[in-house]
Amino acid sequence: MLICPVCTQPLVRVEKSLSCENKHSFDQAKQGYFNLLLNPAKKSNQPGDNNEMVQARTRFLDAGHYQSISDAINQMAIDLLWQQQDAEILDVGCGEGYYTQRLHHALADHQINHELFGLDISKDAIKAACKRTKDINWLVANGKKTPFSEQSMHLTLNVFNRIMPDSLKHLCHPQGHVLIASAGAHHLQQLKEAIYDSPKFVEFDAIAVMKDHFKHVQRQQLDFVIKLPPASTQDLLYMTPHAWRSSPQTQQQLLSQEQLELRVQINLDCFSPLESEHKD
Ligand SMILES: C[S@@+](CC[C@H](N)C(=O)[O-])C[C@H]1O[C@@H](n2cnc3c(N)ncnc32)[C@H](O)[C@@H]1O
Ligand SMILES: [Zn+2]
Repeated sequence: MLICPVCTQPLVRVEKSLSCENKHSFDQAKQGYFNLLLNPAKKSNQPGDNNEMVQARTRFLDAGHYQSISDAINQMAIDLLWQQQDAEILDVGCGEGYYTQRLHHALADHQINHELFGLDISKDAIKAACKRTKDINWLVANGKKTPFSEQSMHLTLNVFNRIMPDSLKHLCHPQGHVLIASAGAHHLQQLKEAIYDSPKFVEFDAIAVMKDHFKHVQRQQLDFVIKLPPASTQDLLYMTPHAWRSSPQTQQQLLSQEQLELRVQINLDCFSPLESEHKD
């Protein structure tokens, strides 16, 4: 259930606005999203990904290079939710909504009744997401303190976004799950080798980050090679922090390759809240 970011009372929708009993009110933007980000929650005027990054991500994802990641996320979600009535689902840090929209279609194809929220701190990202579909509730908000009541989500997705375990714990239904997609040690290996003198191949440890509140249920590792034409290489450079750290010469060298072969290595981890363990 959506709650007021000011006073935490329930938000009720009347036509094109959401309001609480204390008369805090939030109007729907013309693109279709609600902005529930409070000013003090912003560190800058434009928090999160900027428009250039968002557009690059949309082009890259729509070219299908990461479709198998999306398919694997969807299959895990279907396995978790197939018996769930009226599943409440949140994609936190959803960006421009590629994974969110594909999840929505996959669940609908499997007749899994659900209400899906896509939340991101970047207004540019959410505006782009609104162009994908109006069937998802798109929100500009802070994933650190989300506008949802406690234990309201049966499934929360966190795809390539910084993990905020306290917030995930607050959101997660006692029988719910959290799915985290994060980069494995060798993700984009050749890109790192081209950019850094001594590239580090260290695995991000999602299990350690989650361990205080969640039990690790399962991991699926995806490991495959993508072959990028220069336009997609350019988009990838824009949408990752690697671009900022690479010299113009290195970027030129990468872009001059007719096909850039890159290893993609992703961990998909599923978690359940510690309290939900049945002690029998
Ligand atoms: C690497 S992008 C991933 C986007 C999307 N999940 C995807 O994989 O295409 C990380 C996203 O997290 C968002 N983000 C960063 N900090 C956030 C916060 N505190 N709350 C919500 N979203 C945040 C950024 O704006 C960006 O869209
Ligand atoms: Zn309020």
